[in-house]
Amino acid sequence: MSQNNTVPFPKEFLWGGATAANQIEGAYNIDGKGLDAQDLMPFVVKEQRKGKINMDLTSKQFEHNLADQDGIYPKRFGIDFYHRYKEDIRLFAELGFKVFRISISWSRIFPKGYEEKPNEMGLAFYDSVFDECRKYGIQPLVTLSHYETPVGLIEKYNGWESREVIDHFIRYATTVLNQYKNKVKYWLTFNEINVITKSPYTGGGIITDRAKDPISVGYQGAHHQFVASALVTKIAHSINPDFLIGCMLARSEIYPGTNDPEDILLAQKENNLNLFFTDVQVRGEYPSFMDRYFEENGINIQKEAGDDEILKCHPVDFLSFSYYTSLSVSTHRNEEASEGNLFQGQVNPYLETSDWGWQIDPIGLRVSLNDMYDRYRVPLFVVENGLGAYDKVEDGQIHDDYRISYLREHIRQIGEALCDGVEVIGYTSWGPIDLVSMSTSEMSKRYGFIYVDQDDEGKGTLDRLKKDSFYWYQRVISSNGRDL
Ligand code: BG6
Repeated sequence: MSQNNTVPFPKEFLWGGATAANQIEGAYNIDGKGLDAQDLMPFVVKEQRKGKINMDLTSKQFEHNLADQDGIYPKRFGIDFYHRYKEDIRLFAELGFKVFRISISWSRIFPKGYEEKPNEMGLAFYDSVFDECRKYGIQPLVTLSHYETPVGLIEKYNGWESREVIDHFIRYATTVLNQYKNKVKYWLTFNEINVITKSPYTGGGIITDRAKDPISVGYQGAHHQFVASALVTKIAHSINPDFLIGCMLARSEIYPGTNDPEDILLAQKENNLNLFFTDVQVRGEYPSFMDRYFEENGINIQKEAGDDEILKCHPVDFLSFSYYTSLSVSTHRNEEASEGNLFQGQVNPYLETSDWGWQIDPIGLRVSLNDMYDRYRVPLFVVENGLGAYDKVEDGQIHDDYRISYLREHIRQIGEALCDGVEVIGYTSWGPIDLVSMSTSEMSKRYGFIYVDQDDEGKGTLDRLKKDSFYWYQRVISSNGRDL
């Protein structure tokens, strides 16, 4: 870190943790909530996983899961945050959180997604959650859509394939922006907006075998989300000029596997494809390299007159992103692939891997922060980063030094980036409390500072237990990053 040992983190740095409604709330059919895309995602037995995890549903699987009452669908029960939010937020306050990232479940507010009037019980729930945060001086950071497309919109429109979903999203967003205008300042429109091109069902509630143009549908859905996000940014600023609206990207720094110029070019192309999404949302326009990519890949995007102007006029206020790993790509054959939930590259021999085979690269975070700040010059917010690992309870304690070490090294690199002159406004580690995994719906893949007594099948007392990392993160926050 800096030579003179001063703390690089600004006084107002937003320390905290990040979650998503579908991975914590449970109560999937309570108080008027409708089903969303994630309620239909089953637990994936480890032995059944081969290579890249499939997070899409075919038409047949969708119909089957919709009717299925016997399978294990862990996101339906989450960790019962719906009933335990007071206890959980109290623990976050004890950790010293300045910010708590949470998503609003769209189908709790508009059960099918296309109703005219919101579900008052859903609105009341988040009012109570935000009041509870305020009690402890914790700022909520709210994601409007974290893979939670209402099933009603999937059935009626095939999700974000259809332009009509823009209007339904705007109605939902306007409702909650108004409802919580005095309780929430920081908002994100779409979680990991780039995921829609990797898994159209996850990112956009799109069933690919129902799509008119399966090759283009991911980018078409992304275009609809870009327009929706820009319009919501405009509306948000008119509701409360103090609102700060961010985009959210799943960022992986992509390295060339060798110094063969072909590999340098490949890595540059892959980085550009990743940053295409923030190019649109921060700079307000499609970058020129995408024309060639669309043409070479047979992708046709239907834009309407006026879309480009909407994007140009309403860019986001800040850029947020998740960072778990870097990726290596090469034109040279290498049979070994690294793991990730949706992104895969080649094995980088200089890096260690997590229990789930994700490569651990704290320096890659510093590189990413520098690259993105150079490119965009807007405030950056690391809103997801963490280690999914197996934990063992021994005499009521969890000694998770592996998690501490992962987080320590990443936070240290954020400090370095701050010293490099990058503007970073906050850090919310992923899953401050154990939650259901997004990609595999496992409970045993744990990220938390707080252990939740529940197994993959949903059995357990749901008791919360502090891990060693709890006390460590508490010190990090209270020392504003000095005591790592
Ligand atoms: C991010 C998602 O991609 O990765 C989270 O925004 C997710 O929802 C996190 O939980 C970790 O992935 P996983 O598959 O380990 O839960």
